[in-house]
Amino acid sequence: MTQRVRFDFDRTFATRPVLLAPMEDVSDAVFRRVCRARGADVCVTEFVNADGLVTQQADARRKIALPEGDSPTAIQIYGSNQEKLTEAARIAEEALPAYLDINCGCWVPKIARGGAGAGWLRDPDAMVAMARKLVASVALPVTVKTRIGWGDEATMPIVELAQRLEGVGVRALTIHCRTAKKGYGGDADWIWAAQAQAAVTIPVIVNGDIRSASDAKRALDTTGCAGVMIGRRAIEHPWIFREVRARLDQQGQLAPPTLDERFALCREQLLAMNADRGTRRAVRAMRRSYPHYLQRVPGASDLVRELNHVDTLAGVLETLERGHAECAALAAPSSPSSPSARHEAFAPRTPAAPADTN
Ligand SMILES: Cc1cc2nc3c(=O)[nH]c(=O)nc-3n(C[C@H](O)[C@H](O)[C@H](O)COP(=O)(O)O)c2cc1C
Repeated sequence: MTQRVRFDFDRTFATRPVLLAPMEDVSDAVFRRVCRARGADVCVTEFVNADGLVTQQADARRKIALPEGDSPTAIQIYGSNQEKLTEAARIAEEALPAYLDINCGCWVPKIARGGAGAGWLRDPDAMVAMARKLVASVALPVTVKTRIGWGDEATMPIVELAQRLEGVGVRALTIHCRTAKKGYGGDADWIWAAQAQAAVTIPVIVNGDIRSASDAKRALDTTGCAGVMIGRRAIEHPWIFREVRARLDQQGQLAPPTLDERFALCREQLLAMNADRGTRRAVRAMRRSYPHYLQRVPGASDLVRELNHVDTLAGVLETLERGHAECAALAAPSSPSSPSARHEAFAPRTPAAPADTN
C-alpha cells in the first residue's frame, strides 16, 4: 500500500475549501489533476457502484485507484444495500482516499428507484442507520452528499437529517440544494444549506449553480457554510477553482485564462487522458471539452469542427498546434504597439450546460 500524506480533515474544512464535485464519466483521475492544478482544494471521484466493488469489477476498481499525487481525493460510493455499501467502503478505504463519501443524492430514476442515491431520502431512518453502520465499519472519515429532500414531503427533511447524520458520526455533509424530484429544474435554493449549517457543527458544503467566483463568495457569505462544491461549471471552465480561491483569499478578481493557457489545457488533458485511457478514448472524449476551453477564442469554432474529424493523437496535436498559431494571429492586434493578444484574456460567455446525469 502506498503511503499518502495524512489528510487533515478538520483543518481542510476550516479553510473554506473549494471542492470538485463527483461527476460520472467526468471526475476521473485526469480531470481531478486538471482541476487540482487550477486550485481545487479537494476532489471527489465519480460515484462508484458498491456491487461493482464487492464483485471486483474492473471498472469499479479503476475508479477507486488513486494515482500518485491524486490527493486529497475522496472516494464516493453508492448503492441501496447497507451490507454491500459497508463492504464496498472497506474496499474503497484500502485505496487510501482522504475520506469516503456516500451518494444519497443521485436522482436518476435507474439509480434512485432501486433505493440507491437519492432513493435513501425516501426513507431517512434507513439512511441514518446505513450511515451509522458505515461510520462504525471504517477508520476514515465518512461524509454524505445529498439533496434537500425527495420532493413530496410537507417540509424538507434536510435540516433534521443533517442533525441525525451528525449524531451518528458523519463528518461533513454536501447539499445539492434541490429536491431529487427537481433533477436540475429551477434554481438551487442555498437557504437549505444555511439552515442545515446553522443546525450542526460538522461542515456543510453548499452545492448547486455555483458558476463564478462571485457565486461562490455569495454562497459562502449567505449560508455560513464551510465550503463550496462546483460541478458543471468546472467542466466548462476548470479555471474557476483558482478564480474562486483568489476571491475567497481576497486577492481580487483574476483575469480569465489567456489564449495560450486555453490551448495548453487542451494539450495537457489530451496527453494525460491518452496515457491513462488510451488514444481512442482520449481523442473522442476531448471533443466534449474543446468548445468550452476554446470558447470565444477568435477562429476557434472552425478548429473545433475540424478536431471532430481527426482520430489520431499525432493528428490532433498537429491540428491544435496549427490552430493555436492561427487563432493567435487572428487575435493579435493590428497595432504593433499593443500587447500581444496571446496574453490577453478571453472572458467566457454563459455557455450551455452539459448533459446532467446526477
Ligand atoms: C455529468 C454529471 C455527472 C454527475 N455525477 C455525479 C456523481 O457521480 N455523484 C454525485 O454525487 N453527483 C453527481 N453529479 C451531480 C454533481 O456532483 C452536482 O451535485 C450537481 O451537478 C450540482 O452542482 P453544479 O450546479 O455545480 O453542477 C453529476 C453531475 C453531472 C453534471
